[in-house]
Amino acid sequence: MGGLIYFSAVRCADAHQINYMETVSAPAKIILLGEHAVVYGQPSLAVPLSSLRTYAEIVNLPKGSGLKVVAADLNNQEFYVNSASQEIDSPLFTAAWLLLNHLDCPPPDATITLHSDIPIASGMGSGAAITTALFRALLLALNQSLSSEKLNALAYEVEKIHHGTPSGIDNTVIVFEQPIYFVRGQPIERLTIGKPFVLLVGNTGIGSSTKSVVSDVRTLYEANVEFITEKFNSIGELVRSGRKAIELGDHLNLGKIMYDNHQFLQEISVSSPSLDMLVDAARTSGALGAKLSGAGRGGNMIALVSPDKAPTIKNALLEAGAVQVYQTIVGK
Ligand code: PMV
Repeated sequence: MGGLIYFSAVRCADAHQINYMETVSAPAKIILLGEHAVVYGQPSLAVPLSSLRTYAEIVNLPKGSGLKVVAADLNNQEFYVNSASQEIDSPLFTAAWLLLNHLDCPPPDATITLHSDIPIASGMGSGAAITTALFRALLLALNQSLSSEKLNALAYEVEKIHHGTPSGIDNTVIVFEQPIYFVRGQPIERLTIGKPFVLLVGNTGIGSSTKSVVSDVRTLYEANVEFITEKFNSIGELVRSGRKAIELGDHLNLGKIMYDNHQFLQEISVSSPSLDMLVDAARTSGALGAKLSGAGRGGNMIALVSPDKAPTIKNALLEAGAVQVYQTIVGK
């Protein structure tokens, strides 16, 4: 019995009692094909964007201080988590308690400072990346480990608080940091990239709430179940063909599939004039394919481009109103 108590005390102890500072992180993500339909059971493809990340820096505090979370570039949030703290309406606060309760550990004596390079509300999974980075920081500060599966399940619980009925694709691609073929509620399948491809990610600069776009799609679906189900089925077909094209390195076909997917997203009313302008600019300047990525109505579009045309297409996107264009190679 004594042994058990001793073990439990050590299990939850702060990892380091002397001064230390460490940083953990989590990546952004891009949905290649299948957003929205994925909420209704269709497959979807997503890849991590490892060069764009959320960081969590952990610095220990004197014993008994409790946990301080600082997120200067996330609405300037700063709060304490200790036995005396009042519940506050913040996904970060909820996430911290969720993990501590799961581990059955008190808050560590540490400051965790979050910093994110991922644009917020832009379809790049900033919320799931922030949650994942915070979880990793807490685990380190408490000298604990969790399997990626468990971490993913907990991150999904936080996503539900943010988004209502998320499919789970964001947290999954971010926690595992691998290209994935994702079907809600099914085991994750790794997506094999036959030949690396170049994507341009054009940010409209317009923020969009995933929760409200997903809820508008739900309203549309409930009013026209058959019609919208047909659209989702067609998107699912495109995703299956897109997976094959990616595995075979058939970028011409993948591009065509992306344009078709964008059209279905327009038909379910989640595109917007600024997204359509970027997709048109990509098309007329020679992109192999382009579509909105994520919830839509703002956020990002992605364009599949051949490397030699990337600079021209990037300029065309900036001229068509993109506030930022990232270039990334998938599968390298
Ligand atoms: O906007 P994001 O990056 O959170 O992507 C949302 C993707 C949706 O398919 C629209 C919703 C979901 O939960 O899968």
